[in-house]
Formats: sequence, C-alpha cells, structure tokens
Amino acid sequence: MPQLSPHVRAVEPNQIREITQAAWASPGAIVLSIGEPGFPTPAHVLEAGQSVLARDETGYTPNAGIPALRAAFADYASARTGTRVDAGRVFVTAGAQQGLHLSMSMVLDAGDEILVPNPGYPTFEMTARLLHAEPVPYPLWPAHGFQPRIEDLEALITPRTRVLLLNSPSNPLGAVFDADLTRALVELAVRHDLWIISDECYEAFTYDVPHVSPLAFDDPGPGRGRVLVSQTLSKTYGLTGLRVGALIVPAGLQEQMSIINEAIVSCVASPSQYAALAALTGPQDYVRRAAEHYRQNRDAAVEVLADLGIPYLPADGAFYLWADLSHASGGDVRGWARGFLAEHNVAVAPGTAFGSIGEGWIRIALCGDRDRLVEGLARLPRR
Ligand SMILES: Cc1ncc(COP(=O)(O)O)c(C=O)c1O
Repeated sequence: MPQLSPHVRAVEPNQIREITQAAWASPGAIVLSIGEPGFPTPAHVLEAGQSVLARDETGYTPNAGIPALRAAFADYASARTGTRVDAGRVFVTAGAQQGLHLSMSMVLDAGDEILVPNPGYPTFEMTARLLHAEPVPYPLWPAHGFQPRIEDLEALITPRTRVLLLNSPSNPLGAVFDADLTRALVELAVRHDLWIISDECYEAFTYDVPHVSPLAFDDPGPGRGRVLVSQTLSKTYGLTGLRVGALIVPAGLQEQMSIINEAIVSCVASPSQYAALAALTGPQDYVRRAAEHYRQNRDAAVEVLADLGIPYLPADGAFYLWADLSHASGGDVRGWARGFLAEHNVAVAPGTAFGSIGEGWIRIALCGDRDRLVEGLARLPRR
C-alpha cells in the first residue's frame, strides 16, 4: 500500500473518543465524557426534514445554503450578537466543525500560525494541521480563571501569525468572556492585523452572564471586518446528527467562500437545511428548557464536588464542568480516567484531551440525566 501523507499520520488520536468508546463497550457505564444533548427532537423539526424527502427536493441547493435559512441565521445572529448581520454574510455549513474547516481554509496558508486555546477543543489543532498550518497553543492559566491574557497572546505573535481562535463559552471550561476582555481581544487582532475565528457553539447557554461576541466590536465597513463567527444547531437545538451550522463572514468574502465550499461539501443536505429552518423559526421553548436543565445539572454536580472537596472552575456557560483531580491522577489524568472507568464504570474526559494545561483536570459533561450524573460523580475520589 502507498504511504499516507505525513501530516495525516501526525494527527493524534482523540482522547475523548478513546474513553467514550471504551465506556460504550462497558455495560451500564455512566458516560459523562461527551457533550451530546439527549432531548427528543420537536415534531415540527422532524416534519420539516421529512417533508423535503416527501417532495423529492433532493437536488443541490446553492453553495451558501437555501436563502430562507441564511435569512433565519442572519436574524438569529443579529439578535444574539447585537450587530446587524445581513443574510449575504451567512454561509450554511455542515455543523461548526465544517465552519472551522472552511474558515481556516479561507485564511491560512501552509506554515501560517493560528493561536488556539490550551485547554481548548481538540479539533482546533487538528483542523489547522490538516491545512498544513501551525497551531500555536495560548495558555489559559488556572491562576487567571482560565481566561486568556493579552500579554500571553502578544508574546506568542510572530510575523507568521494570521489567526486568533476564540471560543466563548468554552468547551471544555465553561468559561465565558466578558465585554471588556472581548473588546481587548479584538483590539489585539486589529493591532497585529489578525483574523479572528470565533467558535460560538455554546452561545445559547450562559448562566446569569451575557454572551458577548467579538462581532460586536468588529469594524462593519466593507473590506474592513476581520471576525468570522461559527455557530451550530448541534448544541443549541441538540441536533448533532443533522449537521447544520453557519459561518458568518465579513462583508465581501462571500463570493470566495462559495468557490471554496464547492470543493469541500458543495452544499449541506437539503432535508437538514429545511429542518434547521424549522428549528430556528419555530417555537424556542425547548432551547429554554435545555438551558434550565443544564443549569440545574451544573448546580447538582457542583454540590457533589463540594461534598467531596474537589475544586472546580465555576461554569458560566456551555454544559461542561472542569474539575481538578490532581489529588488522585498522579500526573497522568489520561491513565487515571481509564482506570476510573475500569474500576467505577464512569467515563469522564481527561483534561489532556484539551491540551497540556489540562493535566490533572477532567471535563464532566452536564447535558445528560441528572440522577446518572450525580451517581457517577459520587464515585470520584474524595480529596
Ligand atoms: C467548541 C466546539 N466547536 C465545534 C464543535 C463541533 O460542533 P458541530 O457538531 O456543530 O460540528 C464542538 C462539538 O462538540 C465544540 O464543542
């Protein structure tokens, strides 16, 4: 067999998958290692997808997505970011993951550097590597509440740095940026002429703090914007398998985006697009119910951790809790998580899945059943 491309061979296996697959193979395991909301999909969303098939509307759609869905995303994004986004700037993607790939494909050249959070979602690095770019992790220190610091970022910027990747609310941390920090991050990008890719998968879920998008501080003038925002229905509406998200780009990039996307996916599956349209334009009560469920799960989980004396980062957003297991993990939290699953039949994601600063930490997914969550966490080792 001929050899695989070296940069593909260099991509590391995903530690979240590793522990989750082991858990799925273990009968009765409590799986707290993945962020998959488990709510039933509302009937109006299912019907919208099914009716597309019944009408045999199975041809290509425009590369950028069906116009009504682009308009719905534009309205949604305008309301959520406080900035008027017109539909021409919205590009329908196969989930946020394709939004990341598409946005990085647009702005990164081979050897270019992209600043990615450590700890951060693992595909930020993987996607950059697949494009022959160089991910440069920027530290989110425990001592600073796992928030980015401008001086740490400044110190990492080189003539090859092209992109600053932001993710608030954060997976895995549940941390949320406030308006001052977000503005300072955009100003940093302006000073160094960087693009910002803002992964806003979890923007619908913040608890008692607002979600602030860097789009709110971007220059809206044609040819002057630098913020690309990636959104998804996977988390907001719990529609992970539908594969629909949107990339919002600065004015003027849309023509080029269409050309590039033709070579990546051409367009998103038509039943998924119509189901997404129904989700965005129909009743929103189940998003509110989901947010309340995650908040109550967070509060229940925090109570168990406090009882056990386990430190954690207070989660202001997303549906994860980041907890410090360094008293038990012996400097190898990946190995510890495997052992914890084998012994107690509970899977949590090892912090090292998200970067070196995650050593000693675990990520607990808060999106499932509350009783199972509490039962699983009660098996953690007391500090
Ligand atoms: C931060 C972050 N970005 C992107 C994704 C990918 O989401 P999607 O299912 O929309 O591709 C996830 C999924 O967990 C995520 O947590």
